[in-house]
Amino acid sequence: MDRGPFVVVGSPISAVPSLSSPRPGSFTRMPSELLADLRVAPSILASDFARLGAQVEEVMEAGARVIHVDVMDGHFVPPISIGDLIVDALRDQVHEAGGWLDVHLMIENPERQVAAFAEAGADSIAVHAEATPHIRYALEAVRDAGCLAGLALNPGTSAEAAAPVVDMVDLGLCMTVNPGWGGQSYIPGSERKVARLRELLGEGTPITVDGGIGADTVGQCAQAGATLFVAGSSVFGRDDAAAAYREVAEAAGAA
Ligand code: DX5
Ligand code: ZN
Repeated sequence: MDRGPFVVVGSPISAVPSLSSPRPGSFTRMPSELLADLRVAPSILASDFARLGAQVEEVMEAGARVIHVDVMDGHFVPPISIGDLIVDALRDQVHEAGGWLDVHLMIENPERQVAAFAEAGADSIAVHAEATPHIRYALEAVRDAGCLAGLALNPGTSAEAAAPVVDMVDLGLCMTVNPGWGGQSYIPGSERKVARLRELLGEGTPITVDGGIGADTVGQCAQAGATLFVAGSSVFGRDDAAAAYREVAEAAGAA
């Protein structure tokens, strides 16, 4: 299928990509225009892993185009979740349906794992500012691997942490719960940090909110400037994931 301007084959090189220019590298990437609209991104952390492909198909048929993958290492956050093998397992299904694989690394020293996730098929990779002394290097590594670079911030980290690396951030990710577990409650007031991130990152940069997002919380985040809404238990935790997806998307005013 036609995968837009980012279908590139050749040796990986280290030019810095932007949202609007083709990104070099040896791996197929989806067009970043996908993230220009408001999107709800179902998080497979809350899915039934015994039927992962079927669950992803359900939400994509309901309109989801961004699939969020939560990677946890048992160090940066206590649980261990999944790795690049799962990204690789989903890449064809998601890309052939016109979707985007959004990887959220909740792991220490994420720069060491970026290449593996990029090769597995990630389209964007978010790294935590708190997870490495080398956040600029980590963001650069993501771009060099041909993916959009996401900067993730824990609830206890100020939005100002984005300021020194603002030129390296393709998307912001504001944790609206403490990272590590699905099914937690949205931390009230998180939207103020989203609004500050919006000021720092400017208008064209997608901002993700992640944690406790559902039909009841998504609106205030959208109003504050968030554009990508990660929804785990509010979608896959429900009996009818497709209907739940549509409900959250409608509340967000999402595509
Ligand atoms: C939490 C993860 C989230 C998680 C959200 O650390 O980053 O992406 O899947 O789950 P819910 O939507 O259930 O809060
Ligand atoms: Zn996440």
